Amino acid sequence: MFAQNTYIQRREKLRKAIGSGLILLLGNDESPMNYADNGFHFRQDSTFLYFFGLNHPSYSALLDCDKGEDWIFGNDLTIDDFVWMGPQPSIAEQSLQVGVSKTGTIASLIILLEDAQKKGRKVHFLPPYRPENKIKLFHWLHVLPEEAKVKASAEMILGVVNQRNYKSNEEIDEIVNACNVSVDMHTLAMRMAKPGVTEAQIAAAVYQTALATGGQISFPIIATINGQTLHNHYHGNVLKDGDLFLLDAGAETTLGYAGDLSSTVPVNGKFNSRQKDIYNLCLNSHNAAIEMLKPGIPFKEVYFESARVIVRGLKDLGLMKGNVEDALVNGAHAMFFPCGLGHMMGLDVHDMEDLGEVYVGYDGEPKSTQFGLKSLRLGRKLEPGFVLTIEPGIYFIPELIDQWKSKNYNADYINFEKVEEYKKFGGLRNEEDFLITNEGKLLLGKPKPKSIADVESEWAKG
Ligand code: GLY
Ligand code: MN
Repeated sequence: MFAQNTYIQRREKLRKAIGSGLILLLGNDESPMNYADNGFHFRQDSTFLYFFGLNHPSYSALLDCDKGEDWIFGNDLTIDDFVWMGPQPSIAEQSLQVGVSKTGTIASLIILLEDAQKKGRKVHFLPPYRPENKIKLFHWLHVLPEEAKVKASAEMILGVVNQRNYKSNEEIDEIVNACNVSVDMHTLAMRMAKPGVTEAQIAAAVYQTALATGGQISFPIIATINGQTLHNHYHGNVLKDGDLFLLDAGAETTLGYAGDLSSTVPVNGKFNSRQKDIYNLCLNSHNAAIEMLKPGIPFKEVYFESARVIVRGLKDLGLMKGNVEDALVNGAHAMFFPCGLGHMMGLDVHDMEDLGEVYVGYDGEPKSTQFGLKSLRLGRKLEPGFVLTIEPGIYFIPELIDQWKSKNYNADYINFEKVEEYKKFGGLRNEEDFLITNEGKLLLGKPKPKSIADVESEWAKG
């Protein structure tokens, strides 16, 4: 937990930003896997963690903007629970640690909310993403689950985003810790990626590295020889000579801050000539994007520059053709690079995705609906304090290639005959995490191997 004052100041800032009414913050509940007592790993809601730091299930909180009061609500555990879980501090004791002296039961929260509604006071809430919290909003505020997203408070979303988007030094320290563990996860995978090893064995070892620090993983591990499937969570393959192995994995610290890295390594230890061409092209795009990072630059421009490098390189390899700028405008690059360039990162690996990318990554501007660009989670002008990922990739997705080819889609810019030769190539990417500083940018965590020479030499250590 951070110092008490951190949480007090964050809440005060939010109350001031909203001005009047009540702010309702819902923590997460336990989530049963197959029966109530056999749950998934408990993950607290990140906004609740940000303002209250308490990593316990089934708490809710109210900030009273008019009275300047903060409340935490929950039902204390009883001796029946202590028999199974050991003694637990009371909610009042926990709340004092984060500077909250007013606590109550859930029943008392419901009475407070009813009273506020009778008096016509506004109750601000965020868009819920868990069914349990949708049910709470239905019972407590009579908001239908299917309307909860649109009825959420835009002022509150903006108030939260305007704080959480700017990372403080203590948050940066946490993210650096997460990135350092993430680098260890990646170098281990590079050393393990040998013919005969399974994806599952590497995923397990990577997971173990994160768990051994006392933390967690920040999202489900992608450990695959089929890197062309962007979020591939299947771990059933055996690695073989000639494969590229892609790891996309990150650690989460005990306070909930994320790291997020991607690496690609040749399973036999040496990139072949075609793999070298595509890998270096992707790395050039990656480095070109990093070079541009600084306050004031719209991230959409950085995305287009990274895509421009890819289009030029694919033209040199005979895979694309025609005018580069026209190819970009028409989204032709998206057949090879259908995802975005990066996203904000913090307490969530895709920071505040629950609050809406338009608010977090676009400063309220609408997102494009064009294939490729619609997957760009961040487009806004960069500012000091932002933490983001850079992760261009080059992918040969057979189903997408077949579809575009059959429709002659972007045929002015894509040499489909040549692409056929690469259909079994797979996909690759590198990913690193950066802080935008007043001067430019800072790589978060220790550097991970990413040049061909460094990746091959890390592999050789295994
Ligand atoms: N690293 C997973 C993602 O960014 O979607
Ligand atoms: Mn990422």
